[in-house]
Amino acid sequence: MSYDFNRRIDRRHTRSYKWDQSEKLFGRPDILPLWVADMDFASPPAVRAALEKRAALGLYGYSIHPDSYFEAIIGWYRRRHGWTLERSWICDAPSVVTSLSIAVELFSEPGSKVVLQSPVYYPFYDVIRNNGRIVAKNPLLIQDGRFAMDYAQLESLFKEGAKLLLLCNPHNPGGRIWDKEELLRLGELCLKYGVTVVSDEIHCDLALPGHKHIPFASLSPELANITLTCLAATKTFNLPGLQTSFVVASNPDMRRRFDARIKTLALHMASHFAQDAVEAAYTEGEAWLDEMLDYVAGNLDYAIGYLAEHLPEVKPMRPDGTYLLWLDCRGLQLDVRGLKDLMYNKAGVAFNEGSIFGEEGEGWLRINLACPRAVVEEALERFCRAAAGR
Ligand SMILES: Cc1ncc(COP(=O)(O)O)c(C=O)c1O
Repeated sequence: MSYDFNRRIDRRHTRSYKWDQSEKLFGRPDILPLWVADMDFASPPAVRAALEKRAALGLYGYSIHPDSYFEAIIGWYRRRHGWTLERSWICDAPSVVTSLSIAVELFSEPGSKVVLQSPVYYPFYDVIRNNGRIVAKNPLLIQDGRFAMDYAQLESLFKEGAKLLLLCNPHNPGGRIWDKEELLRLGELCLKYGVTVVSDEIHCDLALPGHKHIPFASLSPELANITLTCLAATKTFNLPGLQTSFVVASNPDMRRRFDARIKTLALHMASHFAQDAVEAAYTEGEAWLDEMLDYVAGNLDYAIGYLAEHLPEVKPMRPDGTYLLWLDCRGLQLDVRGLKDLMYNKAGVAFNEGSIFGEEGEGWLRINLACPRAVVEEALERFCRAAAGR
């Protein structure tokens, strides 16, 4: 390995959302935080070099998006995903959640139903409700220990008039990478009922070894025509603090409307730092990503093995992608308060409590495995010891 993912980097006192809020949120400073989805790994060295070069300028004026930035994005998607993007399809946005929110505003009517598949990343609910729309849930099924879509329920929501779907692929939580047949079946329903798809594919580069992500819009020109895909280098290379993302839309009308809204909100200027970091990551970060994914796969095997041995009542859902592990803790027979008490007070760990992803997540926890193995070991040891003594 040429990158040291075992190194423990002390992130406390760095304004870290995950590491500097333990006292405030959980009542004690010594919590091991494995919740917020960023990594405890240093980004690829090329990213740091690009940012240091930019910082060394010493003046931080308004900046442009260079052609090389778009070329880096296009090259990445061609190499890693076999998806050919045109420059004109790409529009920058500050964050993926910003794009989700704008898309809800643009592609659905006030008061209308917007479909999500629960349990799901909690801002999906916020962007629907805060825009004055109604959440129309298509709860995911669990088949053979993994999530599956309920097409019958989905079709009934479309029949009732829902015209917008927020797709999460790979899915957070649970880490399902929807396969081609699943996406095509979904797409067929969307085309039949005139549904627009906003596909959040921020985790697309985090397919674990043996799995492959398929961009929904890459499946056919007809599906591309009804889809706005939200993408970013931030999850892939641990840059989320840079607040940068982009959307891809081949449909000129969707693109024009999205672009116009971004300009209206004055969100269209380039960041002084972000574009250099993203370009460096996409052009020089590939080896780092592959090693990081191997390392996370090792953490995953370790976690699943450890839990099977020490706490078999808890059943992990093995992900296809993402560095997140979704844990069925219903066998512990604790309610939401009980699970929080177990994590924060008894074990001294903070995983995500599952009900924030929707009521289907009650009794589940989500663990972030993008950290050194020693941290995973310590967190699981604390958790299993506390659960055994509950
Ligand atoms: C599915 C999904 N979308 C979006 C985000 C956040 O993206 P951003 O920071 O660009 O808003 C996350 C972060 O965990 C996520 O899991």
